[in-house]
Amino acid sequence: MSARIITVYSTKGGVGKTTTAVNLAWLAAADGNRTLLWDLDPQAGATWLLDVRQKVRGGAEAIIVGDKSIAKAIRSSSIAGLDVLPGDGTYRDLDITLDGAKKSSSRVARALKPLRDDYDVIVLDCPPGSSLVAENAVRTADVVVSPLSPALLSLRAHDQVGAFVEESAPGTPVIAFLNLVDRRKKSHREAADALPGRTRAISDIVVPASVVVERMAERHAALGDYAPGSPAGRAYAALWHAVAHAPRARR
Ligand SMILES: Nc1ncnc2c1ncn2[C@@H]1O[C@H](COP(=O)(O)OP(=O)(O)OP(=O)(O)O)[C@@H](O)[C@H]1O
Ligand SMILES: [Mg+2]
Repeated sequence: MSARIITVYSTKGGVGKTTTAVNLAWLAAADGNRTLLWDLDPQAGATWLLDVRQKVRGGAEAIIVGDKSIAKAIRSSSIAGLDVLPGDGTYRDLDITLDGAKKSSSRVARALKPLRDDYDVIVLDCPPGSSLVAENAVRTADVVVSPLSPALLSLRAHDQVGAFVEESAPGTPVIAFLNLVDRRKKSHREAADALPGRTRAISDIVVPASVVVERMAERHAALGDYAPGSPAGRAYAALWHAVAHAPRARR
């Protein structure tokens, strides 16, 4: 069966997309899946977290718009079964290039085609916003995973994500969940108690705000490596379970 493509996406910045992408990719690989994490963000946070060398020769454009073989740009990580397609600054200009290209919203899908039988799971880490790059990533997704911050404003982001997915790739399942929840704060407690199960499904998986998560940056590692039993580690394991068993988008 061809790879399950998991796109981690939100219109909002700083909600935990990269953290989520890295942890899901780690968990997928730990489950014995041949896994690829594609870092579509010019900030290249996922690439940096996993300590993979940046710089794609020819840049993102060569892979996505040009004819450079995507396989040549892939690096292995220090985690067994997990490969990384590194992000670098060249992803910054991609939207402009895509805008002028033919079939501008199915370029990522096209680039991934030759890899779909080589991997069991492909995780795409998106930059924030409703860019063409994000549209590409959503259109090729079997499932979209969307972290939400525990604030009322995040409901707006959640609705925007839902609308963006419906417009770009109708019917694609979205798994949204609250991240960065600090139960000492009343507003966070209220959000964590009220939001899951709301109309456009918000899962009941809640990832707490935790220094254990922050340490991923020091350790260049996923939670599964050093804190699988922590509340955040267990929440991500539950998220992986939900993502792995989500029905696939019909395309
Ligand atoms: N559950 C958590 N507990 C504590 N810190 C967290 C948690 N989730 C994310 N963070 C921290 O919040 C910051 C933003 O996280 P991350 O980079 O994953 O967000 P992002 O949505 O990918 O951001 P961007 O939109 O810039 O790509 C990071 O410093 C990360 O370590
Ligand atoms: Mg990010």
